[in-house]
Amino acid sequence: MTIDFENILNASEKLLEVVRNWRNGTTVSQYMITNHYISLEEHNRWIQNLRKKTTAKAWIIRVKGKPVGVVSLTNIDRKKKTAEWGFYIADVSVRGKGVGSAVLYQLLEYAFGALHLQSITTSVLGNNPTALHLYEKFGFEIDPEKKQSLMREGRVINVSTMTLSRDTWTQKRKSLQKESKQKDTARLS
Ligand SMILES: CC(C)(COP(=O)(O)OP(=O)(O)OC[C@H]1O[C@@H](n2cnc3c(N)ncnc32)[C@H](O)[C@@H]1OP(=O)(O)O)[C@@H](O)C(=O)NCCC(=O)NCCS
Repeated sequence: MTIDFENILNASEKLLEVVRNWRNGTTVSQYMITNHYISLEEHNRWIQNLRKKTTAKAWIIRVKGKPVGVVSLTNIDRKKKTAEWGFYIADVSVRGKGVGSAVLYQLLEYAFGALHLQSITTSVLGNNPTALHLYEKFGFEIDPEKKQSLMREGRVINVSTMTLSRDTWTQKRKSLQKESKQKDTARLS
């Protein structure tokens, strides 16, 4: 399986609209911290901010050339050497086939390699056992002091902040490289 990445700033208008539709779809938005409808204006503001800022980056994930999702880094702090990240595979037929693991592996290679980060953080909703399992497999740990919750459709959903340190990545990297079967996965740049 060939996986590669396209900087979202190089994506066509048509593809950017596909991304907006992905993000507004419930198969993605139910797992996101914010799930309000994203208007074209808000979406364009996000892209404009990505153009201006050096603290955020986003890529389209392609499998065999077909766009299937997005991976992003935000709040890249080059002094503290920290960042937040997030991703989704919008095409549900592609989920559960190892793409998420391969993408996460490459994101971490980029974050701890090219960006020289010391730690990387994400937030996971309690309704998302797949992501929780995946992040634990990669060595992310829940920060007990940063547990939060949100209300969705009248139900309380826990939100965990999970962090991976550079030291843990260094220990786990080799075994995950084999397991993530990322031979045909491009590097992030
Ligand atoms: C999270 C997501 C990116 C994972 O991508 P993916 O391509 O499905 O991931 P993989 O195929 O590499 O599988 C990841 C692991 O989760 C496991 N998994 C799959 N479905 C699962 C489930 N329902 N419950 C628990 N674990 C599950 C897989 O078995 C695999 O673990 P393993 O390697 O130990 O077998 C994808 O499911 C997705 O886009 N979900 C919606 C958006 C989202 O949740 N984004 C993350 C927000 S924090």
